[in-house]
Amino acid sequence: MTIQLADILSDLHEDHRNMTVMLDLLAREIEHVREGEKPDYELIHDIMRYMTVYSDAVHHPKEDVLYGAMKKERPELAAGLEQVEPEHEEIARLGETLRNDIEAVASGAAVTRDRLVADATDYVQRLREHMAWEEDDLFRRADALVQDEGELFVDISHLDLLDPVFGPEREHSFANLLENIKDLSRS
Ligand SMILES: [Fe+2]
Ligand SMILES: [Fe+2]
Repeated sequence: MTIQLADILSDLHEDHRNMTVMLDLLAREIEHVREGEKPDYELIHDIMRYMTVYSDAVHHPKEDVLYGAMKKERPELAAGLEQVEPEHEEIARLGETLRNDIEAVASGAAVTRDRLVADATDYVQRLREHMAWEEDDLFRRADALVQDEGELFVDISHLDLLDPVFGPEREHSFANLLENIKDLSRS
């Protein structure tokens, strides 16, 4: 299956908007932990489930298609792209650590408040920085490529693009997360 590069780009912008909502929710819950209040652990777990299942497994491979096309079509637009992979790996690792912390809390293991706050803060900061780099620099270069080339098709047959929270087929296990997202947009 092929798709226009312009469509991948707008999809990626939308992913970033959705991921920002997740990070805002996560930061709010972590603020409760920092203040010694009880956070909604189930919500934090759902957020990290989404971030590790969708963002790491779908969003990053989708970006690889975009960045691959930039390298192929316009090597002069590709400066610094070699930094993307190590950053994606680092974000996946930090996300995994945080998800493990939350799962340990759920199973009754002792995870200190400080560690939870530190791991979550690292994750949120790193991912926000990475997305800002992409939005302010990499996606702008990609947009210039789209503007110059007009129609440019890329193969996405190898990608599983279903978004279990924001996509058309919502996964039942994310119902609680969806409710929280609705509340956030109302407040
Ligand atoms: Fe990325
Ligand atoms: Fe991204």
